[in-house]
Amino acid sequence: MNKSKFQKILIIDFGSQYTQLISRRLRDLGFSSLLMLPADVQELFENDKENWSASFSAFILSGGPQSIFADTNDYQFLFEQAMKPVLGICYGMQLMAHQLGGKVERGIQGEYGNAQVTVNLESHFSRIQNKFNDPFSVWMSHFDHVVRIPENFEIIFNSAQNMIAGIKHCSKPWVGVQFHPEVEQTINGILFLQHFLEKLAGLVPDRTEVSTLEEIEAYFSSKKVGHILCAFSGGVDSLVAARLCQMRYGENLHCFFVNHGLQRLQDMEHIKILARETSLKIVTIEAEDFFLAALQGMTDPELKRKTIGKLFIEVFDRKVKEYQDKEGIVFTHLLQGTLYPDVIESFSPHGKQGTSVTIKSHHNVGGLPDKMNLELLEPLRTMFKDEVRKLGIHLGLQKGMVYRHPFPGPGLALRIIGEITKEGLAIVRQSDQILLDEMLKFDCYNQTWQAFTVLLPIRTVGVKGDERVYEKVVAIRMVQSSDGMTASFSRVSFDFLAEVSRRICNEVSGVTRVVYDISSKPPATIEWE
Ligand code: XMP
Repeated sequence: MNKSKFQKILIIDFGSQYTQLISRRLRDLGFSSLLMLPADVQELFENDKENWSASFSAFILSGGPQSIFADTNDYQFLFEQAMKPVLGICYGMQLMAHQLGGKVERGIQGEYGNAQVTVNLESHFSRIQNKFNDPFSVWMSHFDHVVRIPENFEIIFNSAQNMIAGIKHCSKPWVGVQFHPEVEQTINGILFLQHFLEKLAGLVPDRTEVSTLEEIEAYFSSKKVGHILCAFSGGVDSLVAARLCQMRYGENLHCFFVNHGLQRLQDMEHIKILARETSLKIVTIEAEDFFLAALQGMTDPELKRKTIGKLFIEVFDRKVKEYQDKEGIVFTHLLQGTLYPDVIESFSPHGKQGTSVTIKSHHNVGGLPDKMNLELLEPLRTMFKDEVRKLGIHLGLQKGMVYRHPFPGPGLALRIIGEITKEGLAIVRQSDQILLDEMLKFDCYNQTWQAFTVLLPIRTVGVKGDERVYEKVVAIRMVQSSDGMTASFSRVSFDFLAEVSRRICNEVSGVTRVVYDISSKPPATIEWE
């Protein structure tokens, strides 16, 4: 584990679908956190019983899908740390009660969705009750419940069904809630978390750009780095990661931009701007024919992604050899702009995937370091996108570079549903550019998290001039989000949509119909493939 003077809150992930949100909320409140599986925490404890928790300021036990009766592990060690604050959420509260001598029972029926909770006016919480609207609405999702609190605990919240909805130790900073404070639907959720962290646990928010930089420095110091190969896309993540490495490793950073022929019109221009306006050494590798030939006839989205990953490996593999043979430069690390959501998405509550955290296949250049003997360098792996943007500004990068919409590594391959053809690429490129132009004209680019067009694999009937045509359909996707983990479709004006549609139908050959995607994530993802 990296040594840092900044303490982290340890979130133990018992598998709730909301665990990622806990860490998101902690960030918003100014606290750093680390998410670990129970088995890993136990291993940490077994390896160093004295000091295992020294770098953690508090523990949060997440919710989880299982019943505590199915978990025979002993978690007493969590409560043996001298007064370390503990918050148990849902399953976490049941676990806390169970471990400390309370009683949990299987419910006759579960409680799912919105519920009402009241503050126990005789408890510790009555003092802050005037800050809460009482009773307040919370999000519940549980079957088992606590029926008897452990000794020296008090009930702080009751549910409308008269169930125990919150408990607190009378003198120690140990709290449990049956509801999910991290979920938006819980009205006083953020306030409750803040109260736990700042008032009960006595922690002071310390996550700033400066502390983030110190944490990154500690990460860099733990590595033995020679020359770094950076798979540079020009997007905010690779740009900020490259800037950090440039500041730390100078000339040893080598950025390679692979032109795989799946870029938008704006991307090639953007790379030129970056090469001109930042001091990064960016080498463009021309590989359009190589990629397009390999993708010919391919329609399956996963196969497209995997093939693109494999081709990246080949391209970089050749570069590594070339640099070694011609210039005697030996690459030791591959720099990637992996973000925290990619890391936590790879956690599985039902079993570990390898000894270290693996990254979702489509978010890195599939298996590259293994094959090429390079170690991964991921300075942004504890950050969310909006934090990376703030850090980018702090590092002096221009706003326009940092607030650019995200664009996926496999590029337009994901935006042509079905086979990738030159004709299809021309259609998405042109329609995407029209969408961008109009967003800038209507001044809605900065208010939108991501926007793009997708070419659908169907034809529909239309009339152009006096002739009946049978042509392609383009979909417009525009979403609002803060980190891409959830998203809602953008409520843009009809005038804007009408203008984009008019221009696409008039200017893009082969297209007669434009549709607007009004689905949210979940259940739909942001990209169509
Ligand atoms: P989804 O479609 O999963 O996308 O809702 C969430 C965010 O991730 C981007 N995305 C990708 N980025 N390689 C990437 O580098 C990929 O294969 C990939 N798939 C999705 C997507 O554009 C959105 O910002």
